[in-house]
Amino acid sequence: MQDSSEHSEVLRNIPLIPLRDLVVFPATLVPFVVGRSSSIQALEKAAEKDKMIFLAAQMDASIDNPTAKDIYSVGVTAKIIRTIKSDDKNMKVIVEGKSRARIVEYLSTYPYYQILAKVIKEVDDHAPEGKELLKRVLALFEDYLKLIQNANLDSIIPALRENTPDRITDIVASHVYMPLEEKQNLLETANSLERLRRLNYVLENEILKIHASYQKDPQRANRRRVTLKDQAQKIFPPGSPNFRKEDQPNEIEELRQKVAKAKMPADAEEKAYKEIERLEAMPPMSAEATVSRNYLDWLISLPWVKKSREKRELEEAERILNEDHHGLDKVKERILEYLSIRQLVKNPRGVILGLIGPPGVGKSSLGKSIARATGRKFVRLSLGGVRDEAEIRGHRRTYIGAYPGRIIQMIKRAGTRNPVFLLDEVDKMSMDFRGDPASALMEVLDPEQNSTFLDHYIDTDFDLSQVMFIITANMLDPVPKPLVDRMEIIRLPGYTEDEKLQIAKRFLLPKQMEAHGLTEANLKISDQSLLKLIRSYTREAGVRSLEREMTTICRKVVKRVVEKGKEHGEKVTPRNLESFLGVPKFRRSEFDKRDEVGVSTGMAWTEFGGELLRFEANKIHGKGNFTLTGQLGEIMQESAQAAFSFVRGKIYELDIARDLHRNFDIHVHVPEGSTPKEGPSAGITIATAILSLLTEIPVSKKVALSGEITLKGKVLPVGGIKEKLLAAYREGIREAVLPLDNKPDLKDLPKVIKQNMIIHLVETMDEVLKIALTRELPKKPEGREPATATPAPAERKARTGEGEAPKEPPLTN
Ligand SMILES: Nc1ncnc2c1ncn2[C@@H]1O[C@H](COP(=O)(O)OP(=O)(O)OP(=O)(O)O)[C@@H](O)[C@H]1O
Ligand SMILES: [Mg+2]
Repeated sequence: MQDSSEHSEVLRNIPLIPLRDLVVFPATLVPFVVGRSSSIQALEKAAEKDKMIFLAAQMDASIDNPTAKDIYSVGVTAKIIRTIKSDDKNMKVIVEGKSRARIVEYLSTYPYYQILAKVIKEVDDHAPEGKELLKRVLALFEDYLKLIQNANLDSIIPALRENTPDRITDIVASHVYMPLEEKQNLLETANSLERLRRLNYVLENEILKIHASYQKDPQRANRRRVTLKDQAQKIFPPGSPNFRKEDQPNEIEELRQKVAKAKMPADAEEKAYKEIERLEAMPPMSAEATVSRNYLDWLISLPWVKKSREKRELEEAERILNEDHHGLDKVKERILEYLSIRQLVKNPRGVILGLIGPPGVGKSSLGKSIARATGRKFVRLSLGGVRDEAEIRGHRRTYIGAYPGRIIQMIKRAGTRNPVFLLDEVDKMSMDFRGDPASALMEVLDPEQNSTFLDHYIDTDFDLSQVMFIITANMLDPVPKPLVDRMEIIRLPGYTEDEKLQIAKRFLLPKQMEAHGLTEANLKISDQSLLKLIRSYTREAGVRSLEREMTTICRKVVKRVVEKGKEHGEKVTPRNLESFLGVPKFRRSEFDKRDEVGVSTGMAWTEFGGELLRFEANKIHGKGNFTLTGQLGEIMQESAQAAFSFVRGKIYELDIARDLHRNFDIHVHVPEGSTPKEGPSAGITIATAILSLLTEIPVSKKVALSGEITLKGKVLPVGGIKEKLLAAYREGIREAVLPLDNKPDLKDLPKVIKQNMIIHLVETMDEVLKIALTRELPKKPEGREPATATPAPAERKARTGEGEAPKEPPLTN
C-alpha cells in the first residue's frame, strides 16, 4: 500500500471558510449561503486565484468568530462552481468537494483564514466484505430515499452507481440525515471500508427511526421527512452541473401529462385534474400535498385500459393444463367447458369458477395454470382472516395512512384489467359486526355491478368486468349462500395413492430437485420408496405433506452433495427412507384389525378432506345414562342422541332384555380428540356401535359407514361422498355403506374406487345392521314376552326364532 503523508499533496495559503451545521464531502455539490465578511473575502480571494477553497465545520454553530480551536481540523478542499450575490450582505455559493484534507497550520487569520493543508490519502483495503457491504448500503440508501420521498430518487441512484466505492460512500453520507458529529466522523475516516460499516449502521438506524415515528405521529414523521428531503435536494441543486433540467420538470406539468397518458374514463380523469389543481394550491411540502400526491399516483398507475391479449385456442389451453397438473381429468374438462362458454357468451352471468376441496389438492396452482392457459396475468388474494369491509373496498381518503382496498391493490399489481384473480380461502373470511366483507365481495363478483366497482379510496368507478374471478375454499358450508349461488362449482375431492405416486414422480420431485439445484445423477427415488413415503409419512387427501417430505429429502441430499462433491449420487430405497425422513409418522391404522364388539368405523368429512373415525361404545353399570366424548359438535351430538333413541326402540323387537340399557350407562367415544368433529353423518355408525355393544355381536372391520339416522331408523343422505370413499380406500377399506339417496354422487368416482370397492346403498337402519354386524340380530320369537334383564341377564341370550339360527350354541338354562 502506497501511502504516507510525505507524498501527499500540500496546499499552501488556501483560504478557509468555517461552516455552520454543514459537512461537505468529496465528490458532492453543495450550495450554501455565506454571510460573514471574512468568509466573503475568502471566497473572493479564491475566485481570483484557482477557485480552490478549504471547507471545515465549526464545532459549535453559534460562534460568530471561530478560532482555530473551534474548527474541526479535518475538512475538504473544494472548487467554487458558482457564486451568486443573493442580497447586499449575503452570497450564495455552489461548491464541489474535492479531497479530504487536514489543516496543518493557520498561516494568517485576518482578513480571512489562510492555511497550510495536506490532502489525506484514501485507504482502500479491498476487503472481500466491501462488495457485499456496498450492495447493502446502496439498497438501504434506496429505501431511505423512498421513505423520505425524495423526488430525485430515479436519478440519484443510477448516477451514484457510476462512481467508485470511495465516492459512493461520500455521496451517500452527504444525502443522509445524521448528527453533525457523525458526519464529521465519516469525513475523518479515510478508510472507505470503515466508512461503509458506519454508513450501514447509520442508515439502518435512520430508517428504523422514520418507521417508528410514522407509527407514532404521522404529522411529525411528515415534517421530518420534509426536512430530510430538503437536505437531500441540496445535493443536486438547480444550476449545478449534475442537475439536468429534464430530470425534474415541473411536478404539476408532469402529473398532467401522466393523467393524459393514463387514458382514464372521463369521470376519473376529471377527478384527477381537479386533484392536480388542488395540489398546485397547496404548500408543496405540506402533509395534505403528500396525501394528494399519493392519490394521484394511484389514479395514474391503475390499468384503466391495459389488457393482456387473451389466448383463445382451447387445444392450447388443454395442453397447458395438462402440462401443469397430473390427472384431474374431470376438473380439466369442466374448466375447458367453462372457458369455451366464456368465449361464446359475452358476459356470462354469474359464472365464477369455484374450486372446492381439501388442502393441497391443487386449487391455487390450478388457478395459476388457468391464467397461463388463457394468456392472462395472475393475481392471488388470500381472504383468510379478512374481516373488514375496508380491506376489500379501501379507506376513505381522509387521513395520511389511507390506501385502497385489496381488490384495487391487486389490480394495480396485475397491471392489466383482465387478469385471472384468485380469491383464495373464501371460507376462512371472517364475518363480524364491523362491516361485512362478504357483501363487499358480492359486489366485486356481481357482473351487474362490477363494471362500476367503487373503492372508497379511489373514489371513482373502476371496471372489473373483464377480470376472471376464481374462488377457492376447503368447504362450502361457511361460504355465504348468495356467493355460492354465483359460482360454477368444481370439486377436487383428493387423490388416490396411485395418483399421488404419479404426481410425486412427475411433478413434485422434479420441481423440488430443480429448486434445490439437484440433477438426476444426484438423486434417485424408486417408486417403491415413494409409495412407502406416501403410506408412512403422510395421511392426507392432497399432496401438501408429500411435497414437504420431498423437500426434506432434497435438502438432505444437497447437504451431502456439498460435502462430497457435485458428482455425488444418493439413492432412496424403502430401506434407507428412514435415514432421510426419520421415524415413520403413521403406522398402518387400527382399522384393519379384527372385528370388535361396540366399535364401528365411520367415514367423516372435514375441511382437510375425508377421514376414517373409530366410534367406540362402552357400557358400565348404571341407570341408562348416555354420554358422548371426543370433541363432538352440536349437530353430531344430536345425531348421536337420535341414534341412541332408535336403539332403545329397536331393543323391543329383539330377543334381548328390553330394559337392558336401563341397567347400564352407555358411553360413546370418538378418539383422535384433537380434531373437532361435526355433522349428522355419524348417525348410523353410532347406532351400529351401540347395538353391537348391547347384543355383543361384533361389527365387521371391513366396512365403513356414513349416513344420517332418523328416530324411526330411516337413513338420510350426507355430504362429501367422494372424499369419504377416497379416505376409506386409502386406509385399506373395500366395503362401504351409504344412503341410497346419495346414489347420484357415485357417478364420477375415481376408477380405482369404482372397480375395487363394494358400495352398499341403503334406506333403513335394518339394512345397515345386516351388512355391518358379523351376525344377524336375535329376533324376538312370535308371541313371547320380552325378557327383563333382572334378575337373569343371561336370559337375553335365549333361543332365537325359526330360520335365524345363531352361530353360537344357544344357552340352555
Ligand atoms: N394434480 C397435480 N399435479 C401436479 N401437481 C399438483 C397436483 N395437485 C397439486 N399439486 C401440487 O401440490 C402443491 C399444493 O397445491 P396447492 O397449493 O395448489 O393446493 P391447494 O388446493 O391450493 O391447497 P390449500 O387449500 O392448502 O390452499 C402445489 O405445489 C401443486 O402444484
Ligand atoms: Mg391454496
